[in-house]
Amino acid sequence: MCGIVGYVGEKYVPEVLTSGLSSLEYRGYDSSGVAVITNGITKVYKAEGKLQNLKDLLAEKQDEIKDAKVGIGHIRWATHGVPNEINAHPHTSNSGKLAVVHNGIIENYKELRAELEKQGVVFKSETDTETVAHLVAKKYEKTNDLKEAVRLATKELEGAYALCIIHQDVKDTIIATRRNAPLLIGVGEGENFAASDVPAIIEHTKRAIYLDDNQIAVLKADSIELFDAENNKIQPKIELLPWEPIALSKMGYKHFMLKEIHEQPDVIRNFLSGKLHTADAKIVLDEVKLDKESLKNLNRIQVVACGTSLHAALVGKYIIEELCHIPVDVEASSEYIYRTTVTDEHTLVIGVSQSGETADTLTAVKQSKARGSHILIITNRPDSAMAREADSLIPVNAGIEVSVAATKSYVAQLMAFYALAIHLAEIKGSIEENYLKEIKNELLLLPQKIELLLTKKEKIQKCSRMYSSSKNFIFIARGINYATALEGALKLKEISYINATGYPAGELKHGPIAMLDETLPVLSILMSGKVYEKILSNAQESKARNARMIALTDSTDEKLEDLFDYVLNVPHVHELISPIMAIIPLQLLAYYIAEFLGKDVDQPRNLAKSVTVE
Ligand code: AGP
Repeated sequence: MCGIVGYVGEKYVPEVLTSGLSSLEYRGYDSSGVAVITNGITKVYKAEGKLQNLKDLLAEKQDEIKDAKVGIGHIRWATHGVPNEINAHPHTSNSGKLAVVHNGIIENYKELRAELEKQGVVFKSETDTETVAHLVAKKYEKTNDLKEAVRLATKELEGAYALCIIHQDVKDTIIATRRNAPLLIGVGEGENFAASDVPAIIEHTKRAIYLDDNQIAVLKADSIELFDAENNKIQPKIELLPWEPIALSKMGYKHFMLKEIHEQPDVIRNFLSGKLHTADAKIVLDEVKLDKESLKNLNRIQVVACGTSLHAALVGKYIIEELCHIPVDVEASSEYIYRTTVTDEHTLVIGVSQSGETADTLTAVKQSKARGSHILIITNRPDSAMAREADSLIPVNAGIEVSVAATKSYVAQLMAFYALAIHLAEIKGSIEENYLKEIKNELLLLPQKIELLLTKKEKIQKCSRMYSSSKNFIFIARGINYATALEGALKLKEISYINATGYPAGELKHGPIAMLDETLPVLSILMSGKVYEKILSNAQESKARNARMIALTDSTDEKLEDLFDYVLNVPHVHELISPIMAIIPLQLLAYYIAEFLGKDVDQPRNLAKSVTVE
């Protein structure tokens, strides 16, 4: 998943590259590097660890790089080789004249490396990317044409790549190309850019070209030429980016995660605006492009997603089955793509992804599309690769989410499932109108209730401190909030590195109960509704094993204080809506524990915001 940036123009190249990389830090942050051509010589600067280390290095080298007019930069999330300076990008040819930055995985790099070594090439790093540098250099020796060298070399690559390549003998030029990894070209005045994602260029230009798979772009300061894999020249299609330059500011919050948690009431309002104004009105969901007849006759839905998006899908299954009586299968995309799956033109396939770039989900979606299924994508990135595969697209409009741990994008995905389920139910007439009205009313009231909850964070903060030394954590729930238990546990794992697991409460007695003792916190998600009493009984089982008892509840039953050591109260909501209300304190619990433990909340170790490798 790494982030790449390329720049050719008159601005101070290291600054353009590092500020672009700063906005791509969500893609990886274990090492970084840039290559520039200065006074006709390719120079490479790399640093292990955070981007600031590279910035410091470049500040020291200012004098030797100030005249550069072209450069490429990279921020890494290690796949092949440990995150150190040697494995950091850019990688160079043996002559040192050619430099390359890469996002993706070259699957046949071992074979290519062995072949190149036979030809006398010396490798310095353990990466798959270095193979590309040497392979392109070999082709360049033969053709003396960098674009042609890249074209020939990429024909031999298997896997995924977005590449930017420079060569000191090819003056002020970047060759950029991609296959199954994101890359866009920023079109400027007297300057041009290449980047993995919009935030890296938006400060400079709002005009962009999205490269298709296998296309090759030749960027100079005053021209952009585009070619297909057969070397045919293509007319570039310039699109206007629907983005404003965004100051990625924490707005006074200590971390982006905390800010993003607080944005959730507005995310809900924003999602509903234009779709639902009063509980009496029908929901407007023009984004769904299937005609009414097809929607009425839908008899199966398959959802594919990963991580937090998978948890949103599990809640979505519950809502759709409850309101529409259509069977919904949910599967982790990474499992779905390597087995015999049975979707066809009668199945609605929903891909859920905050980033819209997750490789496993993208592959799952492409497989289903090839089998003729209608593809509905729920994403926070309507400009992503997944969105481009969509027959129907529901953008969740949560705004840019900087923290690696997904919070507001999760709530926005849940909103998309509520809207979809209500829309289907209204078309099918599958549920009583009064019930639907009640749900719609609850959705409209939800932002204020969350705001109320957010004014009472101190208790959650106190609870977090009390339990921050725990080595393990169990979350239990049943019904629609089983997914909330999974998501609460994932949040805690991701940012505090505490071993946390979510269980369906009824499963506790089938094994996990053996782990319980006086050191283990068990958090019961006790939201009013069908399974409230059942979870209470399951919680009793934990109490009998001396577990440390925490409740998260919208109930005002005072007896809970006797059973639980700690009760976290939230405003009352309808059971079907409760996953949104219940996840907020769990996001805060994870946040405060991680913050108390001094962890890097927004950029937790080993993770990245956009997972573009399978
Ligand atoms: C969320 O907190 C995680 N960082 C991760 O599980 C994420 O949800 C997963 O990688 C899927 O990403 P996507 O939604 O962009 O597809």
